[in-house]
Amino acid sequence: MRYFPLFADLENAGVLVVGGGEQATQKVRLLTRTRARITLVAETPNEELAGLAGSGRLTLDRRAFEPAMLEGHRFVYVATGDDATDRSISEAAQARGLPVNVVDKPDLSTFITPAIVDRTPVTVAIGTEGAAPIIAREIKTKLETWLPANLGRLALRAQHLRDEIARHVPDMRLRRRLWERLLQGPFRWAVLAGRDQDADKALETELLAARGDAHARGRVALIGCGPGDPDLLTLKAVQRLQEADVLVVDRLVNPKILDYARRDAERIYVGKTPRGAATSQVEINRILVREGLAGKVVARLKGGDPFIFGRASEELAALEEAGIAVEVVPGVTAAHACAARIALPVTMRERVRQFSVVTGTTADGEPDLDWAALAREGTAFAIYMGVANAPLVRAKLIEAGADPATPVVIVENGTLPNERAFATTLGDISDCLVERAIKGPAVIFVGLDWADAGLKRPEAVETYARPRPRKLFANSHINPRVEVEL
Ligand SMILES: C[S@@+](CC[C@H](N)C(=O)[O-])C[C@H]1O[C@@H](n2cnc3c(N)ncnc32)[C@H](O)[C@@H]1O
Repeated sequence: MRYFPLFADLENAGVLVVGGGEQATQKVRLLTRTRARITLVAETPNEELAGLAGSGRLTLDRRAFEPAMLEGHRFVYVATGDDATDRSISEAAQARGLPVNVVDKPDLSTFITPAIVDRTPVTVAIGTEGAAPIIAREIKTKLETWLPANLGRLALRAQHLRDEIARHVPDMRLRRRLWERLLQGPFRWAVLAGRDQDADKALETELLAARGDAHARGRVALIGCGPGDPDLLTLKAVQRLQEADVLVVDRLVNPKILDYARRDAERIYVGKTPRGAATSQVEINRILVREGLAGKVVARLKGGDPFIFGRASEELAALEEAGIAVEVVPGVTAAHACAARIALPVTMRERVRQFSVVTGTTADGEPDLDWAALAREGTAFAIYMGVANAPLVRAKLIEAGADPATPVVIVENGTLPNERAFATTLGDISDCLVERAIKGPAVIFVGLDWADAGLKRPEAVETYARPRPRKLFANSHINPRVEVEL
């Protein structure tokens, strides 16, 4: 981040604008929404600027710019239309340590003005560091339609209630929860609709409920956060993240997902690395129960879907036993997300009527699966946690009758920037994992091929075939038994 967003207090602050054309007018229009004292330096101001001067909204100085005019100002905007003049004014401002913006000239500016969505006192500033203003405009348009026009009224009402609510509900956590309910429920709707009496009634109801909350237990949401890409979070997951006082976070949860939580939410990392340092499941259950009993709103963040190789059932049972309210928020599981990334259907009419997910690792290390069923033709499955035991899985499947030519697709770090995908065969799977240094996390699909669905393999998927022994003699019929692996 090169440009850091800040909100400057312009109450009675002097702002100097130099220039009398359209660009200067645009800045002046923006500034007239603030409480700044605007001085305009323009020898020939356009009609709109002259009109604003006439109405007393700004002070007009019709002389040519001189550095002494910078005195008493806190910010400077420049748009004279002349490069050399713009440059010299910028230099004069910078020499005095004054923040200066030369319109559309970032190299001469020390600050830039963001696109603004104005619902005063709620203000949204959007910037792209000058890289793509069109993106900022697109976001602004979306926000303008999304945010209620009188959101500012709700914020002002909240401001007036602050002290009263702090007196009624001294506990900070309970107060935050009360605010969430006020600003998302009937109170909000009544204020936005201008129904003041209904708003007062809703406020009274919520204050009573807040007193009851003081004796309440917390609640826990077991949230599926998907395979990594934050865009795959569900809306419910984002809501629960934003409400949480405490985040209990798994190893495979992308840290970017935590940006959706409140900055002041406490974070407890309970990463479990395969065969590495780990917080035991018993300890994780204990943490969840402890936080719930302390009355906190807990978001337990798990990779993919909580119920697919996620041990959510154990957490659920522990919380239910302790009498703590618990909710499961489903997530996009790794197999589905990885298949989508490489456009690989996991069921195919006529050809693949059954698709399962299996684990390549169990508590004692080796998977104990129904190999005969998995080896049957027309069966497709995704192996989770299967990288380390892939040679064993390969051997078991082939022993159970699977064709070594069965298609295999491996997706590593699916949906993340370092995603890789390989198409190989069951016979070559171990070599592919070693040769391509696939460490995981990875999903291994067995029995699925694009061709079976009438599709092409995407170019991003690399084909891997184990190098076969080459014949030393091209016309090996001379001595068919002489074959040397090179
Ligand atoms: C303990 S399991 C958790 C699965 C998770 N609950 C789900 O529904 O995706 C971890 C395994 O999920 C798979 N996995 C998780 N994230 C992945 C990703 N981004 N790309 C590929 N596989 C992933 C890998 O097989 C990894 O070993």
